[in-house]
Amino acid sequence: MNTPARLGTPLSSSAFKVMLLGSGELGKEVIIALQRLGVEVIAVDRYANAPGHQVAHRSHVIDMTDGAALAALIERERPHLVVPEIEAIATPTLMELEKAGKASVIPTARAAWLTMNREGIRRLAAEELGLPTSPYRFADSLEELRAACQEIGFPCVVKPVMSSSGKGQSKLDGSGDVDAAWQYAAAGGRVDAGRVIVEGFIDFDYEITQLTVRALDAAGKPATHFCEPIGHVQVKGDYVESWQPHPMSDEALRRSRDIAAKVTGNLGGLGIFGVELFVKGDMVWFSEVSPRPHDTGMVTMASQVQSEFELHAKAILGLPVDTSLASPGASAVIYGGMEAQGVAFEGLSEALSVPGVDLRLFGKPEAFERRRMGVALARAEDVELARTRAKQAAGKVKVVSGGQG
Ligand SMILES: Nc1ncnc2c1ncn2[C@@H]1O[C@H](COP(=O)(O)OP(=O)(O)O)[C@@H](O)[C@H]1O
Ligand SMILES: [Mg+2]
Repeated sequence: MNTPARLGTPLSSSAFKVMLLGSGELGKEVIIALQRLGVEVIAVDRYANAPGHQVAHRSHVIDMTDGAALAALIERERPHLVVPEIEAIATPTLMELEKAGKASVIPTARAAWLTMNREGIRRLAAEELGLPTSPYRFADSLEELRAACQEIGFPCVVKPVMSSSGKGQSKLDGSGDVDAAWQYAAAGGRVDAGRVIVEGFIDFDYEITQLTVRALDAAGKPATHFCEPIGHVQVKGDYVESWQPHPMSDEALRRSRDIAAKVTGNLGGLGIFGVELFVKGDMVWFSEVSPRPHDTGMVTMASQVQSEFELHAKAILGLPVDTSLASPGASAVIYGGMEAQGVAFEGLSEALSVPGVDLRLFGKPEAFERRRMGVALARAEDVELARTRAKQAAGKVKVVSGGQG
């Protein structure tokens, strides 16, 4: 852990420098939180003018899956901390650099490496830590997938081992669905296109994100802090709506936090983790974990005293955190709805006229049909009203083709 004894002045010899690997909407908010503490921030992404690039001191465009390019950039910038914001990074390079003392990775290079591959984190959670998960098998060919699906049974879920946001993922109701699932996974996987995980389908009552923060206590030892559980709705593996707090039985909450403490304790380091859990009655299954802010956690910009981004920024700097809830809240995603460069947003006054509402527009240079371009945030006396307000506000924002009208 490379926590600063003090913070300096950006762009001077006392600067504390942080490099974000990935500069989307989540990275942008982490950068803003770091900027507020006078940290010098270097934003990296694979395309120009990414949201985080627009608020950083310096920005770079590289292919972060290219280990040599990544190592060269870290060597050149010499940041005190390297903070992955996405999964698709040459994590073996990060492990080498960390081992050689050339980079301090948040939370650790091993955590970034393990969680970028569903196999790494699943085997750790289920086989090493003994946490409850869906039954699973791995397959490298269509034949293996057929056999694996028979063993797991239907319905089941097939996912490329390296993918995110539901890409390449399908639910199978019978053996007639296997071929299509294999094709879809091969097309949607990031790299290593041939390997997939088959998971038994969990018929959960609801799913939550248990945001968990590892931060230093007064004695300088890492301590684990929990946010209130976040409920969310996923469509095709992508989050469309989230709210906090999600009501849970005491037992389900206790089990959720026990799982979260075990998995984040093993991954180690400092920072925030999004632990994804499925819940049915008092039963809880571990699904996956992001060693970084979580997209469903955008709600915390409305609902918490310190958002997940502020918590991450403080934790990685070795500062104390406050995970308390400020108000019940909700978030609803604003999608591109079209393919175009330099889109414009209308209906903002109408959206912001909904009581308790705020907006974030990410500033992405290009819109796609299902690309997340912004989010509506809402506070209310209870989550149901907050959800209604967030959805109402998101619905009033219209994405139109660009030019100042
Ligand atoms: N085994 C499963 N049983 C039931 N639902 C699942 C299962 N796996 C995934 N899902 C659903 O799909 C969503 C996305 O899956 P996830 O494994 O989190 O992929 P990603 O890494 O793309 O977020 C989950 O949040 C959940 O709603
Ligand atoms: Mg997920």
